[in-house]
Amino acid sequence: MPAFTATAPGKIILAGEHAVVYDQPALAVPLSEIRARAIVQAAVDQHPPAISVTASQIGLQDTLAHLSPDHPLKIVIEGVFNAQDIPQPPAMKIQIHSTIPISAGLGSGAAVSVAVIRALSGFLGHPLPQEKVSEIAYQAEKIHHGSPSGIDNTVITYQQPVYFTRGKQFETFSIAQPLTLIIADTGIPSSTADAVEAVRRGWKKEPERYQGIFTEIGDLVRELKLALEEGDLSPLGQMLTRNHQLLRSLKVSSPELDRLVDTALSAGAQGAKLSGGGRGGNMLALVNKSRTEEINHQLLEAGAARTLITEIGGKD
Ligand code: PMV
Repeated sequence: MPAFTATAPGKIILAGEHAVVYDQPALAVPLSEIRARAIVQAAVDQHPPAISVTASQIGLQDTLAHLSPDHPLKIVIEGVFNAQDIPQPPAMKIQIHSTIPISAGLGSGAAVSVAVIRALSGFLGHPLPQEKVSEIAYQAEKIHHGSPSGIDNTVITYQQPVYFTRGKQFETFSIAQPLTLIIADTGIPSSTADAVEAVRRGWKKEPERYQGIFTEIGDLVRELKLALEEGDLSPLGQMLTRNHQLLRSLKVSSPELDRLVDTALSAGAQGAKLSGGGRGGNMLALVNKSRTEEINHQLLEAGAARTLITEIGGKD
């Protein structure tokens, strides 16, 4: 059996995070500059025969049998064996490398899952259909996130901009004009599960106020999608910044995220917001291409641990 390699991109949520947990739509795009890679090969020299798993980014080197039953990697690997009805898999080595920062809202968990599912099913000779890949990755997302909406595994499996509503068939959409984004990391790891739980507590205490915010975010996402599809650039920045304010009222921002958002706006970004679970992790700024270097510099000066400049849309 020849070795099999697969990769999967990171992702960023453009708008709609948190409200998406309450059945509002959200928009996410893949980030191909950062990727997870999985390599699966036969381990004929391995005694006793076993399935070994190494993940350099998290210092994991173990056998599948030793991983706890709720380990996300165990869930995806066994998910593939079950989907292919392989009760006694052959000895193999599964190696994982990823350049996607962990716990930063950039989809590292889902990308690792998708890369492993694709490499492993390819190695076993039966590549799984996209739907199944996404479904197995979702099972592992539950460990990372508690009760995830499913947006990460969807955008990362299909590698296209998605308009996602929980419990409904997602739609892909196109971004008519190229957009330049600077993604800046606060350097503060943050648990999405905790942030989602904190919003849930707030919603239970003040259901009407929270529901109003979720609805406003949903309306904004629908308008944003239309503007992106039509290539109408003028309202985009304001919509993103408005989304940040609404996320602040859900209390998922942080002083560091607010500082980076304010810095980007003062330096001339068209719009800026936190992205993902919040309370740490990343923010994004929509910038005019000619201003990219200056705004990037200001974000780093304001304490961003690292930045990523990316262009989305305008290709098809
Ligand atoms: O932190 P991320 O980028 O994985 O995304 C979290 C998005 C939430 O809406 C907060 C949660 C979810 O499951 O959709």
